[in-house]
Amino acid sequence: MKVSVIGAGNVGATAVQRLAELDIADVTMVDIVEGMPQGKALDISQAAPIMGYDVDVTGTNDYADIEGSDIVVVTAGIARKPGMDRDDLLATNIKITQQVCNNIENYTPDSIIMTVTNPLDIITYAAAKCTNLERGKVFGMSGLLDSSRFESFIAKEIGCSMKDVSAMVLGGHGNSMVPLPDHATVSGMPLPEIMDREDIDRIVERTINAGAEIVGHLKTGSAFYAPSAAIASMVESVLLDKKRIVPASAYLDGEYGYRDICLGVPVKLGKKGVEEIIELELKAEQKDALDRSAEAVRSSISKI
Ligand code: NAI
Ligand code: 2OP
Repeated sequence: MKVSVIGAGNVGATAVQRLAELDIADVTMVDIVEGMPQGKALDISQAAPIMGYDVDVTGTNDYADIEGSDIVVVTAGIARKPGMDRDDLLATNIKITQQVCNNIENYTPDSIIMTVTNPLDIITYAAAKCTNLERGKVFGMSGLLDSSRFESFIAKEIGCSMKDVSAMVLGGHGNSMVPLPDHATVSGMPLPEIMDREDIDRIVERTINAGAEIVGHLKTGSAFYAPSAAIASMVESVLLDKKRIVPASAYLDGEYGYRDICLGVPVKLGKKGVEEIIELELKAEQKDALDRSAEAVRSSISKI
């Protein structure tokens, strides 16, 4: 099997490292900066004897090398700096996404595409429109990252293992995202039964601002360790047909009452990409929040 990762920056290269360590597919990393993807690929390859993986890792500036990919992960674009919103990246990243999609169409037209570049839901929508693939084959990574952040904050607050927490964040990957504390569980126990509403509200707020919190510390870019973990996990579910149920930005055609938009919803991920969109029963308050999030995404889509 073969995965291509477009953009060999912080997110792309770290995702390549995590994917190589899974040892399930050869990985090709493409960037426009000469020498950089080649150097990073060599470095990752030279860790293989220590880490015990046998897959090929290559770096290139030539899009022709993505031919035959089962899945292409798109991380090419600029990242946030302090004070910037994800939407501030739109104009630059939309142009880059169009170039990347043209290259995918030219060299590996049947591949599944997973977008990562921000603003995520708008870029996913643009990629879906540019490539005209069947709808399950283009989706975006963000909800799994946001959910993992939410889970990590819950586990820290309770002082329990990260493994015991299960929580989900829906909606657009932006300030309007919708963490669902009422659906969260700790070892099967509903979160609202074991945590005060005040603490839950504080954690929800921190989850929404988690990306910005990291940008504030780093100052020169945005998060990449947790994002690359989410990428590797979703790629693995597709390649190994694991059918994991995770939140992802999917093209909606009536689900949750929305049409012609990409938005974070729970999906089943397998060999065909998004194989099912799962429609959760939401309380009125949560559905209102999801409506507001869909509206925010729609307003950005209207700018492209
Ligand atoms: P980065 O700046 O470290 O890397 C981006 C790379 O894309 C650079 O190496 C650049 O040369 C390359 N690039 C630009 N145009 C290209 C083209 N036409 N073809 C190939 N490569 C090209 O940025 P980083 O931190 O890796 O972030 C990448 C993107 O992912 C950003 O838009 C960021 O906001 C987004 N992101 C999204 C997340 C999500 O949850 N969806 C999480 C983390 C980041
Ligand atoms: C994040 O949430 C930048 O979208 C990225 O960290």
